[in-house]
Amino acid sequence: MEPRELLTLDQINLSDIEFWSRPWEEREGAFQMLRRERPMGHFEDPEIPPEMAFTVPNQGKGYYALTRHAHISEASRQEMLEFFGSMINMDNPRHARLRRIVSAAFNPRMIKSIEDRIEFVANDVINRVAEQGGCDFVVEVAARLPLEIICDMMGIAAADYNTVFNASNVILSSGDPEYIPEGTDAMLAFMTAAQQLNMLMTELSDFRKGVPTDDVTSALVNTNVDGEALTASEIAAFFILLVVAGNETTRNAISHGLLAITHHPDQRALWQADPAGIAATGVDEVVRWGSPVIWMRRTLGEDAVLGGEELKEGDRVILFYNSGNRDEDVFEDPYTFDVRRNPNPHIGFGAAGPHFCLGAHLARQEIDVMFRQLFERVPDIESVGEPDRLLSPFINGIKHLDCKFTPVAVAR
Ligand code: HEM
Repeated sequence: MEPRELLTLDQINLSDIEFWSRPWEEREGAFQMLRRERPMGHFEDPEIPPEMAFTVPNQGKGYYALTRHAHISEASRQEMLEFFGSMINMDNPRHARLRRIVSAAFNPRMIKSIEDRIEFVANDVINRVAEQGGCDFVVEVAARLPLEIICDMMGIAAADYNTVFNASNVILSSGDPEYIPEGTDAMLAFMTAAQQLNMLMTELSDFRKGVPTDDVTSALVNTNVDGEALTASEIAAFFILLVVAGNETTRNAISHGLLAITHHPDQRALWQADPAGIAATGVDEVVRWGSPVIWMRRTLGEDAVLGGEELKEGDRVILFYNSGNRDEDVFEDPYTFDVRRNPNPHIGFGAAGPHFCLGAHLARQEIDVMFRQLFERVPDIESVGEPDRLLSPFINGIKHLDCKFTPVAVAR
């Protein structure tokens, strides 16, 4: 699909939810135009309920929308501020200390050690649907692997997987009516979901203080950050960040991946013929193509010059990764899905800098294993019909996507 420039420059309003309900080609067309003609446009803030105003510093002043790869990379290198009420919105030195503790659990060596677990869960997930010949790929396949792995790493019991799944849907739903039905107070739904995860974590942390295991929760509760213990609310906020960041993103990458290989049979054939060889480039192309996280925000801690513009302390910039990932100055044929794309300096996990995605190795591993096992077990799997997309300016989400394949017997 090629971008279509149907809106004029002045009609593009990234703060209007209506923009995000437009067809994909039209949105891509708008970003293409912004990159070319207004790469750091200033936009008014979207309306948000007064009780949420505290989540956005200097609400009402608007923001700069960074749409070029180079500007996003430049902004990411700087230690600016913000996001979400946890590590991601902290700055040095506390951020660096917390990151050190948890990154031990997410480095490539550790991911290698949970490789067997990822293989096992992927196989188990496929077993649950293999005899049906079709399913809702997002809910029954793509969502399950990252959910079960991250819960496992944290030490959360299988009985609580669905609580985590439902709560993280609500937290990232941006008010999508499927997760927050009309007439429901979105803020209340959000707080209730966060509170559920909070309680789950508080209980688990208390338990792990006395009985530590090798899970991430034990590391968090039993480690001091330079002599300072993490507070209960820091641990809970971090947990919420992890389950939300780890679930929604990887789930969407896998779902976009199935959609992409269905629509690009030549690329599918390449990957399927050599899963081990193609994975090294194919997985990153899936992340570039799907760009599951559309943006992150930064607030300037001091005056700075960015892309030739003089910005002031307190100004906000929004880094549109989806746009950077289609930047024609960086990617040859950016609208071509190419599983052998190399080099592929995409910024789907963020650009290099202090907040670069902590789960990137884990996510890559999960995507690789999932596609390899699908190609082996249900080799003719493909998506059917149109994806049911999440209405969100933040997560490029797919809520449901039907798939079909020749049923296979499962040995029990
Ligand atoms: C395909 C899957 C994923 C995508 C596309 C993705 C994307 C991102 C992006 C764009 C950022 C922000 C980078 C920045 O602000 O510079 C981020 C940060 C983060 N991600 Fe991921 N992510 C994925 C998977 C995961 C997984 C599996 C986990 C954990 C289990 C995870 C945990 C985190 C954390 C903790 C941060 C904050 C890091 C910090 O502030 O230091 N992510 N991710």
